[in-house]
Amino acid sequence: MRFDGKRAVVTGGASGIGRATALRLAEEGAQVLVGDIDAAGAAELADASDGRIAFKRCDVTRADDLEALMNQADVDGGLDLLFNNAGAGGAREGIDAVEPGEWDRTMALLLTSVALGTRYAAPPMARRGGGAIVNTASVAALASGFAPTAYSVAKAGVLHLTKLSAADLARHGIRVNAVLPGFITTNIFTRHLEIAEEARAQADGMIAAVAAKAQPIARAGSPEDIAAAVCFLLSDDSSFITGTSLLVDGGMTVGSRASWDPTSPTLFEALDAFK
Ligand code: NAI
Repeated sequence: MRFDGKRAVVTGGASGIGRATALRLAEEGAQVLVGDIDAAGAAELADASDGRIAFKRCDVTRADDLEALMNQADVDGGLDLLFNNAGAGGAREGIDAVEPGEWDRTMALLLTSVALGTRYAAPPMARRGGGAIVNTASVAALASGFAPTAYSVAKAGVLHLTKLSAADLARHGIRVNAVLPGFITTNIFTRHLEIAEEARAQADGMIAAVAAKAQPIARAGSPEDIAAAVCFLLSDDSSFITGTSLLVDGGMTVGSRASWDPTSPTLFEALDAFK
């Protein structure tokens, strides 16, 4: 019970990575407040949580919503832990076609939300004598080819923001780290696509099949894989760790596919055919 007596806020907790993390925190003793725009998903989660997970509607692109979320946690009994996690795919166009408004909306959702969530969580955490914050970045922060440009730039910003937040907040006893998920099977890939109900199972099956082959560890990454890493970074097990990031990607970023996938030969293996 690493989180006995702890009070946590999880944004984007109604689904996927946030949901699995809220459940894990609650299982290990925390009282959790989920902030999300999906009231139905959050209500279903709260019902499954034995009173340990509460919900407050919060659109993380709105500063006043984030301030109200952190204030709610504070008046409910204080705030020790924050998982800045809400997100979606954002603008899909390349840099030669992206609309300015879409670029701004993507930054607001994925980067400014993390800055302002931290901004409003820090004072109540400092009053408790310290705390821990984890921000969700992505492998897309490291290289092209994983996600659209605006999303990837925002996630790269989250990595730098994590370091600067760790420096700013160390004096208050608050640690700040980031997690970089690889390919994790959640609703994020289909949420904004208008997929007919009858095609949904097929689409989910296709995603699971691709996810199982996307990295050296030959299975699909799950929200629980990320929750385990986030809970490590939120717990006292990581009490000497701040300002860093943890890759949880099944090895997806170790190197070129040919280095780990026997069905994808290296140049030298391909040249063997000419011997
Ligand atoms: P998901 O779609 O299952 O969950 C995202 C949650 O965020 C949903 O509950 C949604 O309602 C909420 N949300 C979206 N916009 C919001 C807003 N404006 N205000 C409040 N809540 C909002 O997706 P998933 O995969 O669990 O995503 C969680 C985080 O993980 C995101 O930041 C995403 O960018 C990141 N991530 C996901 C990866 C994956 O492969 N699934 C890989 C790398 C990063």
